[in-house]
Amino acid sequence: MDRLNDPPSLVIVSDLDGTMVDHDDPGNLALLRFNALWEASYRHNSLLVFSTGRSPPSYRRLRKEKPLLTPDITIMSVGTEIAYGESMVPDDDWKRYLDNNWDRKAITQETAKFPELIPQPETENRPHKVSFYVEKGKASEVILGLSKCLEKRRLDVKILYSNGTALDILPQGAGKGQALTYLLEKFKADGKGPVNTLVCGDSGNDAELFSVPDVYGVMVGNSLEELLQWYADNAKSNPKIIHATGRCSAGIIEAIGNFSVGPSVSPRDITEKSVEKPFNPGHEVVKLYIFYERWRCGEIENSEQKMQTVKSTFELNKIGTKS
Ligand code: GLC
Ligand code: MG
Repeated sequence: MDRLNDPPSLVIVSDLDGTMVDHDDPGNLALLRFNALWEASYRHNSLLVFSTGRSPPSYRRLRKEKPLLTPDITIMSVGTEIAYGESMVPDDDWKRYLDNNWDRKAITQETAKFPELIPQPETENRPHKVSFYVEKGKASEVILGLSKCLEKRRLDVKILYSNGTALDILPQGAGKGQALTYLLEKFKADGKGPVNTLVCGDSGNDAELFSVPDVYGVMVGNSLEELLQWYADNAKSNPKIIHATGRCSAGIIEAIGNFSVGPSVSPRDITEKSVEKPFNPGHEVVKLYIFYERWRCGEIENSEQKMQTVKSTFELNKIGTKS
Protein backbone atom coordinates (compact mmCIF):
# COMPACT_ATOMS: atom_id res chain seq x y z
CA MET A 1 0.00 0.00 0.00
CA ASP A 2 1.38 3.37 -0.99
CA ARG A 3 0.28 5.04 2.26
CA LEU A 4 3.17 3.39 4.14
CA ASN A 5 6.85 3.73 3.22
CA ASP A 6 7.90 0.68 5.22
CA PRO A 7 6.51 -2.85 5.49
CA PRO A 8 3.40 -2.74 7.70
CA SER A 9 3.98 -3.73 11.30
CA LEU A 10 0.55 -5.40 11.46
CA VAL A 11 -2.08 -6.17 8.85
CA ILE A 12 -5.49 -6.92 10.34
CA VAL A 13 -7.85 -8.66 7.95
CA SER A 14 -11.29 -8.78 9.49
CA ASP A 15 -14.73 -9.94 8.52
CA LEU A 16 -17.46 -7.40 9.42
CA ASP A 17 -20.83 -8.92 10.46
CA GLY A 18 -20.37 -10.93 13.64
CA THR A 19 -16.64 -10.16 13.77
CA MET A 20 -15.77 -6.45 13.65
CA VAL A 21 -19.45 -5.56 14.09
CA ASP A 22 -21.55 -6.96 16.93
CA HIS A 23 -25.20 -6.56 15.93
CA ASP A 24 -26.17 -7.41 19.53
CA ASP A 25 -24.23 -4.43 20.91
CA PRO A 26 -26.38 -1.39 20.11
CA GLY A 27 -23.84 0.98 21.72
CA ASN A 28 -21.03 -0.50 19.58
CA LEU A 29 -18.73 -0.29 22.58
CA ALA A 30 -16.35 -3.08 21.57
CA LEU A 31 -16.04 -1.59 18.09
CA LEU A 32 -15.33 1.87 19.52
CA ARG A 33 -12.65 0.37 21.76
CA PHE A 34 -11.02 -1.28 18.73
CA ASN A 35 -11.26 1.95 16.71
CA ALA A 36 -9.52 3.98 19.44
CA LEU A 37 -6.77 1.36 19.73
CA TRP A 38 -6.23 1.30 15.98
CA GLU A 39 -6.07 5.08 15.64
CA ALA A 40 -3.76 5.52 18.62
CA SER A 41 -1.32 2.67 18.05
CA TYR A 42 -1.57 1.25 14.54
CA ARG A 43 -2.83 3.67 11.91
CA HIS A 44 0.65 5.19 11.37
CA ASN A 45 2.45 1.93 10.57
CA SER A 46 -0.13 -0.79 9.93
CA LEU A 47 -2.91 -1.70 7.51
CA LEU A 48 -6.57 -2.38 8.15
CA VAL A 49 -8.35 -4.66 5.69
CA PHE A 50 -12.07 -5.45 5.83
CA SER A 51 -13.10 -8.70 4.18
CA THR A 52 -16.86 -9.10 3.95
CA GLY A 53 -19.42 -11.23 2.16
CA ARG A 54 -21.43 -8.09 1.50
CA SER A 55 -21.66 -6.51 -1.94
CA PRO A 56 -20.45 -2.88 -2.33
CA PRO A 57 -24.02 -1.42 -1.90
CA SER A 58 -24.65 -3.56 1.17
CA TYR A 59 -21.21 -2.64 2.62
CA ARG A 60 -21.98 1.05 2.12
CA ARG A 61 -25.29 0.57 3.97
CA LEU A 62 -23.46 -0.97 6.94
CA ARG A 63 -21.02 1.96 7.01
CA LYS A 64 -23.99 4.29 7.51
CA GLU A 65 -25.35 2.18 10.37
CA LYS A 66 -22.15 1.45 12.31
CA PRO A 67 -19.15 3.57 13.35
CA LEU A 68 -16.66 1.69 11.19
CA LEU A 69 -13.18 3.04 10.51
CA THR A 70 -12.18 3.61 6.91
CA PRO A 71 -10.02 0.62 6.00
CA ASP A 72 -6.97 0.76 3.73
CA ILE A 73 -8.33 -2.09 1.62
CA THR A 74 -11.88 -3.45 1.28
CA ILE A 75 -12.49 -6.99 0.06
CA MET A 76 -16.16 -7.51 -0.73
CA SER A 77 -18.53 -10.15 -2.11
CA VAL A 78 -16.60 -13.02 -0.47
CA GLY A 79 -13.20 -12.23 -1.92
CA THR A 80 -14.40 -11.48 -5.43
CA GLU A 81 -14.04 -7.67 -5.32
CA ILE A 82 -11.02 -5.76 -3.99
CA ALA A 83 -10.94 -1.97 -3.60
CA TYR A 84 -8.21 0.37 -2.35
CA GLY A 85 -8.35 3.43 -0.12
CA GLU A 86 -11.11 5.77 0.91
CA SER A 87 -12.24 6.28 -2.68
CA MET A 88 -12.40 2.49 -3.15
CA VAL A 89 -10.45 2.15 -6.38
CA PRO A 90 -11.30 -1.30 -7.79
CA ASP A 91 -8.57 -3.85 -8.53
CA ASP A 92 -9.19 -4.63 -12.20
CA ASP A 93 -6.37 -7.20 -12.38
CA TRP A 94 -8.22 -9.28 -9.78
CA LYS A 95 -11.44 -9.05 -11.81
CA ARG A 96 -9.63 -10.15 -14.98
CA TYR A 97 -8.03 -13.05 -13.13
CA LEU A 98 -11.43 -14.24 -11.88
CA ASP A 99 -12.87 -14.12 -15.40
CA ASN A 100 -10.72 -17.15 -16.33
CA ASN A 101 -12.88 -20.18 -16.84
CA TRP A 102 -15.92 -18.52 -15.20
CA ASP A 103 -19.27 -19.06 -16.89
CA ARG A 104 -22.00 -17.42 -14.83
CA LYS A 105 -24.78 -18.37 -17.24
CA ALA A 106 -23.92 -22.08 -17.17
CA ILE A 107 -23.89 -21.96 -13.36
CA THR A 108 -27.37 -20.44 -13.16
CA GLN A 109 -28.66 -23.08 -15.60
CA GLU A 110 -27.48 -25.75 -13.16
CA THR A 111 -28.69 -24.02 -9.98
CA ALA A 112 -32.18 -23.69 -11.52
CA LYS A 113 -32.48 -27.48 -11.17
CA PHE A 114 -32.53 -27.15 -7.37
CA PRO A 115 -35.82 -25.76 -6.00
CA GLU A 116 -34.29 -25.74 -2.49
CA LEU A 117 -32.07 -22.84 -3.57
CA ILE A 118 -33.79 -19.51 -2.87
CA PRO A 119 -32.09 -16.69 -4.81
CA GLN A 120 -30.61 -13.84 -2.75
CA PRO A 121 -31.54 -10.24 -3.66
CA GLU A 122 -30.16 -8.95 -6.97
CA THR A 123 -27.71 -6.63 -5.18
CA GLU A 124 -25.95 -9.63 -3.59
CA ASN A 125 -25.50 -11.39 -6.92
CA ARG A 126 -22.29 -10.03 -8.39
CA PRO A 127 -20.20 -10.61 -11.52
CA HIS A 128 -18.18 -13.37 -9.78
CA LYS A 129 -20.63 -14.44 -7.09
CA VAL A 130 -23.93 -16.33 -7.43
CA SER A 131 -25.77 -16.47 -4.10
CA PHE A 132 -28.74 -18.29 -2.59
CA TYR A 133 -30.33 -19.15 0.73
CA VAL A 134 -30.81 -22.79 1.63
CA GLU A 135 -32.19 -24.35 4.79
CA LYS A 136 -29.54 -25.70 7.14
CA GLY A 137 -30.97 -29.22 7.15
CA LYS A 138 -30.89 -29.45 3.35
CA ALA A 139 -27.54 -27.76 2.78
CA SER A 140 -25.17 -30.78 2.66
CA GLU A 141 -27.38 -32.72 0.26
CA VAL A 142 -27.91 -29.74 -2.06
CA ILE A 143 -24.18 -28.89 -2.06
CA LEU A 144 -23.29 -32.47 -2.96
CA GLY A 145 -25.84 -32.67 -5.79
CA LEU A 146 -24.95 -29.24 -7.13
CA SER A 147 -21.19 -29.99 -7.07
CA LYS A 148 -21.80 -33.09 -9.20
CA CYS A 149 -23.88 -31.14 -11.75
CA LEU A 150 -21.28 -28.37 -11.99
CA GLU A 151 -18.41 -30.86 -12.29
CA LYS A 152 -20.21 -32.63 -15.15
CA ARG A 153 -20.18 -29.34 -17.04
CA ARG A 154 -16.51 -28.82 -16.14
CA LEU A 155 -17.29 -25.67 -14.19
CA ASP A 156 -14.42 -25.17 -11.75
CA VAL A 157 -16.14 -23.37 -8.89
CA LYS A 158 -16.07 -23.06 -5.12
CA ILE A 159 -19.25 -23.54 -3.07
CA LEU A 160 -19.33 -21.95 0.39
CA TYR A 161 -21.98 -22.21 3.10
CA SER A 162 -22.16 -19.50 5.77
CA ASN A 163 -24.29 -18.27 8.67
CA GLY A 164 -26.32 -21.47 8.56
CA THR A 165 -28.25 -20.05 5.61
CA ALA A 166 -26.20 -18.52 2.75
CA LEU A 167 -24.78 -20.48 -0.16
CA ASP A 168 -22.28 -18.74 -2.45
CA ILE A 169 -20.84 -20.01 -5.72
CA LEU A 170 -17.55 -18.35 -6.70
CA PRO A 171 -14.72 -18.95 -9.16
CA GLN A 172 -12.32 -21.57 -7.75
CA GLY A 173 -9.57 -18.92 -7.51
CA ALA A 174 -11.77 -16.52 -5.48
CA GLY A 175 -12.76 -16.43 -1.80
CA LYS A 176 -11.49 -14.53 1.22
CA GLY A 177 -8.36 -16.68 1.56
CA GLN A 178 -7.32 -16.40 -2.08
CA ALA A 179 -7.93 -12.65 -2.10
CA LEU A 180 -5.68 -12.27 0.95
CA THR A 181 -2.96 -14.46 -0.59
CA TYR A 182 -3.08 -12.28 -3.71
CA LEU A 183 -2.67 -9.12 -1.61
CA LEU A 184 0.18 -10.55 0.48
CA GLU A 185 2.02 -11.50 -2.72
CA LYS A 186 1.52 -7.98 -4.03
CA PHE A 187 2.91 -6.50 -0.78
CA LYS A 188 5.96 -8.79 -0.98
CA ALA A 189 6.59 -7.91 -4.61
CA ASP A 190 6.72 -4.23 -3.50
CA GLY A 191 9.17 -5.10 -0.70
CA LYS A 192 6.41 -4.47 1.85
CA GLY A 193 5.60 -7.92 3.20
CA PRO A 194 3.97 -7.36 6.63
CA VAL A 195 5.77 -8.20 9.86
CA ASN A 196 2.57 -9.79 11.23
CA THR A 197 -0.85 -10.56 9.79
CA LEU A 198 -3.91 -11.31 11.92
CA VAL A 199 -7.09 -12.68 10.33
CA CYS A 200 -10.42 -12.46 12.17
CA GLY A 201 -13.69 -14.21 11.47
CA ASP A 202 -16.83 -15.89 12.79
CA SER A 203 -18.46 -17.95 10.03
CA GLY A 204 -18.06 -20.42 7.15
CA ASN A 205 -16.79 -18.05 4.48
CA ASP A 206 -13.99 -16.95 6.86
CA ALA A 207 -12.49 -20.46 7.20
CA GLU A 208 -10.18 -19.95 4.21
CA LEU A 209 -8.57 -16.95 5.88
CA PHE A 210 -7.19 -19.27 8.56
CA SER A 211 -5.46 -21.46 5.96
CA VAL A 212 -3.34 -18.66 4.52
CA PRO A 213 0.29 -19.55 5.39
CA ASP A 214 2.03 -17.70 8.24
CA VAL A 215 -0.94 -15.69 9.50
CA TYR A 216 -2.25 -15.47 13.04
CA GLY A 217 -5.96 -16.09 13.33
CA VAL A 218 -8.77 -15.37 15.76
CA MET A 219 -12.18 -16.97 15.69
CA VAL A 220 -14.08 -14.48 17.81
CA GLY A 221 -15.96 -15.68 20.92
CA ASN A 222 -19.34 -15.74 19.18
CA SER A 223 -18.09 -17.78 16.19
CA LEU A 224 -20.65 -20.04 14.56
CA GLU A 225 -20.67 -23.81 14.77
CA GLU A 226 -19.78 -24.15 11.05
CA LEU A 227 -16.42 -22.35 11.60
CA LEU A 228 -15.64 -24.14 14.87
CA GLN A 229 -16.35 -27.45 13.17
CA TRP A 230 -14.04 -26.54 10.28
CA TYR A 231 -11.34 -25.67 12.81
CA ALA A 232 -11.82 -28.96 14.69
CA ASP A 233 -11.55 -30.91 11.41
CA ASN A 234 -8.72 -28.99 9.76
CA ALA A 235 -6.68 -26.65 11.93
CA LYS A 236 -6.79 -27.80 15.55
CA SER A 237 -3.03 -28.33 15.72
CA ASN A 238 -2.20 -24.84 14.46
CA PRO A 239 -0.94 -22.81 17.48
CA LYS A 240 -1.37 -19.56 15.53
CA ILE A 241 -5.18 -19.81 15.67
CA ILE A 242 -7.23 -19.07 18.79
CA HIS A 243 -10.88 -19.12 19.71
CA ALA A 244 -11.24 -15.92 21.75
CA THR A 245 -13.55 -15.54 24.72
CA GLY A 246 -14.46 -11.95 23.82
CA ARG A 247 -17.25 -11.30 21.34
CA CYS A 248 -16.48 -9.60 18.00
CA SER A 249 -13.99 -6.67 18.25
CA ALA A 250 -13.29 -7.56 21.88
CA GLY A 251 -12.04 -10.93 20.60
CA ILE A 252 -9.81 -9.17 18.07
CA ILE A 253 -8.22 -7.01 20.81
CA GLU A 254 -7.81 -10.16 22.90
CA ALA A 255 -5.94 -11.86 20.03
CA ILE A 256 -3.59 -8.91 19.55
CA GLY A 257 -2.60 -9.32 23.21
CA ASN A 258 -2.46 -13.10 23.06
CA PHE A 259 -0.09 -13.17 20.08
CA SER A 260 1.86 -10.09 21.30
CA VAL A 261 1.71 -8.49 17.87
CA GLY A 262 1.44 -4.96 19.30
CA PRO A 263 -0.28 -2.82 21.94
CA SER A 264 -3.62 -4.22 23.10
CA VAL A 265 -4.87 -1.68 25.61
CA SER A 266 -7.44 0.58 24.03
CA PRO A 267 -7.18 4.25 25.07
CA ARG A 268 -10.92 3.96 25.59
CA ASP A 269 -10.26 1.66 28.56
CA ILE A 270 -7.92 4.07 30.34
CA THR A 271 -10.20 5.96 32.68
CA GLU A 272 -7.82 7.66 35.11
CA LYS A 273 -5.94 10.74 33.99
CA SER A 274 -2.87 9.39 32.26
CA VAL A 275 0.14 11.64 32.10
CA GLU A 276 1.97 11.01 28.87
CA LYS A 277 5.53 12.11 28.55
CA PRO A 278 6.75 13.26 26.15
CA PHE A 279 3.57 14.99 25.02
CA ASN A 280 2.10 13.19 22.01
CA PRO A 281 -0.34 15.32 19.95
CA GLY A 282 -1.73 12.23 18.18
CA HIS A 283 -2.73 10.65 21.49
CA GLU A 284 -4.31 13.92 22.66
CA VAL A 285 -6.51 13.91 19.56
CA VAL A 286 -7.53 10.30 20.21
CA LYS A 287 -8.30 11.22 23.84
CA LEU A 288 -10.41 14.17 22.72
CA TYR A 289 -12.28 11.91 20.32
CA ILE A 290 -12.90 9.36 23.07
CA PHE A 291 -14.10 12.10 25.41
CA TYR A 292 -16.61 13.22 22.78
CA GLU A 293 -17.71 9.65 22.15
CA ARG A 294 -18.20 8.93 25.87
CA TRP A 295 -20.04 12.20 26.33
CA ARG A 296 -22.40 11.22 23.48
CA CYS A 297 -22.94 7.81 25.09
CA GLY A 298 -23.83 9.51 28.39
CA GLU A 299 -20.82 8.00 30.14
CA ILE A 300 -19.46 11.30 31.45
CA GLU A 301 -20.82 11.96 34.94
CA ASN A 302 -19.75 15.53 35.46
CA SER A 303 -19.49 16.97 32.04
CA GLU A 304 -18.51 20.48 33.15
CA GLN A 305 -15.59 19.29 35.23
CA LYS A 306 -14.37 16.89 32.52
CA MET A 307 -14.70 19.65 29.95
CA GLN A 308 -12.33 21.75 32.04
CA THR A 309 -9.81 18.90 32.10
CA VAL A 310 -9.91 18.63 28.33
CA LYS A 311 -9.60 22.40 27.94
CA SER A 312 -6.64 22.55 30.30
CA THR A 313 -4.83 19.77 28.40
CA PHE A 314 -5.06 21.82 25.27
CA GLU A 315 -4.08 25.06 26.99
CA LEU A 316 -1.17 23.45 28.85
CA ASN A 317 0.28 21.98 25.70
CA LYS A 318 -0.69 24.91 23.53
CA ILE A 319 -2.01 22.81 20.69
CA GLY A 320 -2.16 24.84 17.50
CA THR A 321 -0.43 27.91 19.00
CA LYS A 322 3.13 29.08 19.18
CA SER A 323 4.53 29.69 22.66
C1 GLC B 1 -23.22 -11.67 3.15
C2 GLC B 1 -23.66 -11.42 1.72
C3 GLC B 1 -24.35 -12.65 1.14
C4 GLC B 1 -23.48 -13.88 1.33
C5 GLC B 1 -23.14 -14.03 2.79
C6 GLC B 1 -22.24 -15.23 3.06
O1 GLC B 1 -24.32 -11.76 3.98
O2 GLC B 1 -24.53 -10.31 1.67
O3 GLC B 1 -24.59 -12.46 -0.24
O4 GLC B 1 -24.13 -15.00 0.84
O5 GLC B 1 -22.46 -12.87 3.24
O6 GLC B 1 -21.06 -15.19 2.33
MG1 MG C 1 -19.37 -12.82 9.70
